Amino acid sequence: MKLAIGCDHGGFQLKEAIKQHLEAKNIEVEDFGTYSKDSVNFPSYAVKVGQAVASGNSDLGILCCGTGIGMSIAANKINGVRAAVVSDTFSAQATREHNNSNVLCLGERVIGEGLALLIVDTWLNANFQGGRHQERIDQVSDLEINGANTFC
Ligand code: RB5
Repeated sequence: MKLAIGCDHGGFQLKEAIKQHLEAKNIEVEDFGTYSKDSVNFPSYAVKVGQAVASGNSDLGILCCGTGIGMSIAANKINGVRAAVVSDTFSAQATREHNNSNVLCLGERVIGEGLALLIVDTWLNANFQGGRHQERIDQVSDLEINGANTFC
């Protein structure tokens, strides 16, 4: 498995901790930055990670910012990305099983490092359940192509 990871200054410390955590498990990680606590704008990092996942270059992606929210808004603009902001382990599991989320967004200013690493592990260990959920994912994909016309 190969994972793309990225952050802004608000998520830098958490990104570093997650990267170390994954590499200790021998998971390949491609780090798209940012590489310091200097202030940056989050959208370009969301795009780099989102494109890595959407293109198939990475299997999954993780984005960290202050809240996780800005990253998720930006990443979800990329066709093929299903980014989810998660702050609890139930949602981490559910968003893989039901939404087949392929990018996990975390807020360094929202959750502690211990919970964040547990969320990462839970998310990585859960599997998409398919079935009725696949139809819903397909509708979301149609939305990317046809917009609201999908339901007209
Ligand atoms: C940066 O101050 C902060 O706005 C950013 O990390 C993120 O929380 C945006 O959603």
